[in-house]
Amino acid sequence: MTQDLDAFWMPFTANRQFKKAPRMLTRSSGMHYWTDDGRQILDSSAGMWCVNAGHARPKITKAIAEQAAEMDYAPPFQMAHPKAFELADKVAKLTPAGINKVFFTNSGSESVDTALKMALAYHRVRGEGHRTRLIGRERGYHGVNFGGISVGGIVANRKMFGTMLTGVDHIRHTHDLSRNAFTVGQPEHGAELADDLERLCLLHDASTIAAVIVEPVAGSTGVLVPPKGYLQRLREICDKHGILLIFDEVITGFGRTGQPFAAQTFGVTPDMIVMAKGITNGCVPMGAVAVKQQIHDVFMNGPEHLIEFFHGYTYSAHPLACAAGLATLETYADDGLLTRGQELQGYFAEAVHSLRDAPNVIDTRNIGLIGAIEMAPIAGEPAKRAFNVFIDCFNKGLLIRVTGDTIALSPPLIMQREHIDQIVDTLRGAIQRAA
Ligand SMILES: Cc1ncc(COP(=O)(O)O)c(C=O)c1O
Repeated sequence: MTQDLDAFWMPFTANRQFKKAPRMLTRSSGMHYWTDDGRQILDSSAGMWCVNAGHARPKITKAIAEQAAEMDYAPPFQMAHPKAFELADKVAKLTPAGINKVFFTNSGSESVDTALKMALAYHRVRGEGHRTRLIGRERGYHGVNFGGISVGGIVANRKMFGTMLTGVDHIRHTHDLSRNAFTVGQPEHGAELADDLERLCLLHDASTIAAVIVEPVAGSTGVLVPPKGYLQRLREICDKHGILLIFDEVITGFGRTGQPFAAQTFGVTPDMIVMAKGITNGCVPMGAVAVKQQIHDVFMNGPEHLIEFFHGYTYSAHPLACAAGLATLETYADDGLLTRGQELQGYFAEAVHSLRDAPNVIDTRNIGLIGAIEMAPIAGEPAKRAFNVFIDCFNKGLLIRVTGDTIALSPPLIMQREHIDQIVDTLRGAIQRAA
């Protein structure tokens, strides 16, 4: 079948290259996709870090179909439907103790901007309206809306778009191959990089800072695992200065690191958790921000008939998303997926690090069921080597995700050992051919 590919302007895609040699997926089930020419493709990236329970899980697809037939849409402003409350309650039970209020959005980007707005409004409502600064981190990815790219630290995502939010600053990233290359699990070196926040507190005065947002494990800039003690130190500095700590768990949420949230894996409780992706197993767009009780409670003052927080989306808590979310959480519980990483991570780590001797590999790293293989760039052509590996793997029946010259692995949490073996074998061949 030849199809006209002209009209669709594809997101984050080399459009001209793609349209010359399209890669079309038409079906999915379990650990696999199928292409339009019938080839089976092993999914080593859970779609895009979202299909944690594997593809086309019957409980989830049934719940979505039934919900669409029963009630397609309900306005979320001044009205509601029961599944929204049920899902919020279930999500709140998975987050660390004390984080128990849940605000729904439709994506990670919307969740990030929601959290940033909540942080600013929280301080203002408490009479600390001077806390207007937001702090992100270099190499952070927080989606593509203006708040998210402002606190984000990816040059390509920022440089084309003019003025970002004002009053934003960034702490340094933690990626340091000179000290930490080929670390299994959390790197030993780099906790002191959290002290960069103290530097910004001195520069701007802490009383002007509303919140700090970080990914506990940065994903989109190549899987940067937090050094031992780093997140603890950030938490301490935030506490010392009355700054809110926001964890962007869009990719680490829902079992990716062996606990429901990375906050639990690393033993650090933020004030807010931003989530999306795995909340519905990627089946229906949805995001959420979960916050501490006291953050929510600060807003609950003034006359009762007045709206407390002027923010929300037409599709916040969409009935299809809530139905998908409830069925997803049930599926995670049925299969024990939110903690399955604990039993598989040893095997997964060994497999990832077995690629350390492949040509041009300058680092292998892992945490939970996330792995990364970083390759030296081809001289003068950054990102080309990884792109070549990506295409080669796809032709050999494996979907991977690459960012720069790093290959990021995050297979569905239902993976078996033979899937891990297949991922590593295919990768080794492709990396050798890309040498
Ligand atoms: C950490 C993080 N935050 C935010 C986002 C944005 O999510 P979305 O693409 O759903 O807007 C992503 C997406 O990959 C992400 O990894």
